[in-house]
Amino acid sequence: MTTRLTVLATGGTIAGIAGSAIANDYTAGEISIDEYLKKVGVLGLGAELSGRQIANIDSADMGPEVWNLLHPAIAEALADPDCDGVIVTHGTDTLEETAFLLDLTLPATKPVVVVGAMRPADAVGYDGLRNFANSVRVAGDPLASGRGVLVVMGDRVFAARDVRKVRTRGTEAFRGFPRESIGLVTPSTLEWFGAPWRGNTDAAFAWNNDLPQVAIIYLHAAICADDVARQVDADTKGIVVAGVGEGNMPERVRKELVRLAASGIPVVRASRANEGLVDREPEDEANRFVAARALNPQKARILLQLLLAGGETDPAAIQRAFDGR
Ligand code: SIN
Repeated sequence: MTTRLTVLATGGTIAGIAGSAIANDYTAGEISIDEYLKKVGVLGLGAELSGRQIANIDSADMGPEVWNLLHPAIAEALADPDCDGVIVTHGTDTLEETAFLLDLTLPATKPVVVVGAMRPADAVGYDGLRNFANSVRVAGDPLASGRGVLVVMGDRVFAARDVRKVRTRGTEAFRGFPRESIGLVTPSTLEWFGAPWRGNTDAAFAWNNDLPQVAIIYLHAAICADDVARQVDADTKGIVVAGVGEGNMPERVRKELVRLAASGIPVVRASRANEGLVDREPEDEANRFVAARALNPQKARILLQLLLAGGETDPAAIQRAFDGR
């Protein structure tokens, strides 16, 4: 039986146009999903694809406005007995945040794959068609379900929790941490490393269309307490610190953050380093700080927003969520 996949388009370079095969500059989110499906129609991918335009933006502009359209559209497709899986096309710049948000708020019953491209559609060496063909292969594989939301880029399959964009250019721009890729894919082959870990589980969090404001504070040499205070206002409900090294910070900044945490604003210590664990330190409990573990600051922000949206403000309970327990 032919696999039936729903393709939800949000824009990005995968739908971008440069107006020249060799130009460096281009505009993301130019091609409509109907045009795109015509383009991929000639590839003979062996799947029935039905498309829907959710947005057509540069993913720098991604946020609640589009998420609040995208999430219900995916949920609707997953509930449809005539749909075997969902593909979301997305700009690569904030793809990891959308993928993780969806991973935490969707059931793991059918494959949901997020895919992008590093080169616009009219560029020589456009990677979007291959990435898309690979995503069809993944979304059509029953073994893809039970792994949560997946990201397909550069012949690799990543789990949403692990994936991160690590390069600004080139088709190998994504990596996974702490797990590298969880599968290798080509348009005609797919190899998984390990079995599905989620089963047909429900979503970890209910969808919330009004996520609270969480600030990411990026630390640097010579940062002072006022630099931190300036980034926090009455609307700030949580803070993620992109700390140096293992989520470290100078004493003056620590004091300011301890003050904010004591006022009831949860503070999560992450790292500005691209890869690395931020483990819990003995003084975290007294400081009311939370360790982000393997989540980078932008993903720690998403998890903290969902916890706060559910009414959770207790650092110990927030830590358990970051520990994955
Ligand atoms: C974007 O994120 O929308 C532009 C960059 C890209 O897709 O690679």
